[in-house]
Amino acid sequence: MTWEAGADLLVVGTGVAGLTAALRAREAGLRVLVVSKDSVAAGNTGWAQGGIAVVRPDELDPGDSLHKHVEDTLTAGVGLCSPQAVRDILADGAEAIGRLRAAGARFDAAGGSLARTREGGHQAFRVIHAGGDATGAEVQRALVSAVRGGGIPVLEQHCVVELLRGEGGAISGALAVDSESRPGVLRAPAVLLATGGLGQLFAATTNPDVSTADGVALALRAGAGVADLEFVQFHPTVLYAEGEARGRRPLVTEAVRGEGAVLLDVRGELVMDGVHPLGDLAPRDVVSAAITRRAAETGAQHVLLDATGIPGFAERFPTVHASCRAAGIDPRTEPIPVASAAHYSCGGVVSDVDGRTAVTGLYVAGEVACTGLHGANRLASNSLLEGLVVGGRAASTVAKDLGCGLLTRTPVGEITPPAFAVVERDLLQRTMSRHVGIGRSEDGMAAASAVLDRSSVVRPLRTRQAVEDASLTLTAQAMLAAARLREESRGCHRRKDFPDTDDLRLRRSSVFRLDASGW
Ligand code: SIN
Repeated sequence: MTWEAGADLLVVGTGVAGLTAALRAREAGLRVLVVSKDSVAAGNTGWAQGGIAVVRPDELDPGDSLHKHVEDTLTAGVGLCSPQAVRDILADGAEAIGRLRAAGARFDAAGGSLARTREGGHQAFRVIHAGGDATGAEVQRALVSAVRGGGIPVLEQHCVVELLRGEGGAISGALAVDSESRPGVLRAPAVLLATGGLGQLFAATTNPDVSTADGVALALRAGAGVADLEFVQFHPTVLYAEGEARGRRPLVTEAVRGEGAVLLDVRGELVMDGVHPLGDLAPRDVVSAAITRRAAETGAQHVLLDATGIPGFAERFPTVHASCRAAGIDPRTEPIPVASAAHYSCGGVVSDVDGRTAVTGLYVAGEVACTGLHGANRLASNSLLEGLVVGGRAASTVAKDLGCGLLTRTPVGEITPPAFAVVERDLLQRTMSRHVGIGRSEDGMAAASAVLDRSSVVRPLRTRQAVEDASLTLTAQAMLAAARLREESRGCHRRKDFPDTDDLRLRRSSVFRLDASGW
């Protein structure tokens, strides 16, 4: 090993969950070390547009209540949320926003209080936002500045390769490579994975290049369980481009529909008419499925989002306006062509609302976690909230677990760089998009599994690229196993061969673990 570092808590990932955890851990007196495989602001958080769903702390809004927010979250999750986890996380929302504002985040205001918009599946205006449609950028800015201001060490361009386990299987740290691919050891009795999402499993996604499912793979290989990975949320309105969509696609926030825009097909007919009582603001899985259906019926690859009736569009939605203009569209005078793209993983590493997993010393928070908040389909704008709440709770839990002697520093044994199966990324993305998008079937998924099996080669994980490719490969295999097992359609998991929801047999999550013989 050419370098090493140590801490009480190692935080992997620098989005909303990781940085919130780092700040809280420091407050609790822990020595915390944060690592990012890229730059501190490269993750998904900075791209979030719409906002953060949170009920006013005083519940003075007669149109809304915590109870209604819980109800909307459970409805969107189609029977797979944990009602207790939903209540616990949402109930902490207002306090988490208070802390974020105290850390310097500035939200848009209207009439002396925070401005609130609406998104799909919400029965009330409860989504707070910043910079119009640049909420994630403001959250990221404020948290990075608080972490830097607090002198919390952040190792950028350091990629975690494997979690290390000591006596009794407890976490003892991580093996990582630095920017020059030199291996090193990060020693810590507690590791929090806040590594974000897995959008790069698919050819077209709203996620940046760094969203390569690293946390899911690290946790699986360390012995933790994963659940609900079959529920990949496809965002219904991503800016459409002619030809094959590849890589990160610009999002057109759902808040645009919250402020009155409507979906039309290429013939000019309403897409959501008669589909759902909430119309254009139906939960996201319903809208994405309706768009896919209507596009196929009309022989088009996309539908249209008519936002021409929204006054002051460019000021209210500067990010969307800029990406439309860059594509030669003026959303103030013409409809925006939109299609779906992979957006969010509703499942992940199984944990409680304090971030604890089944592996001693391993914690998770944010998109990588499966706390039971999202079930089969996440309610819009609940994700930044979960990162804030669970990130904070996980750090406090680590402090408690260290304080009561649950976590101990065990020596790191012999370390050999691991080797794992890797499928070439372009092939993997095309295969997953073709067979594991909206509208799955056993035949298609069996074909995808066969492609992955016959195309994988075992490679030593000596570079960030190899680590990412191995993460994508293992997560794709886990996702396929989960999606093939779920012989029904529910939430974001839509099957052509099982179009109905099977509440009798399948209103439950299955936990997948890796062992020598597979899943
Ligand atoms: C959006 O702004 O539409 C995305 C928000 C989210 O994914 O929760």
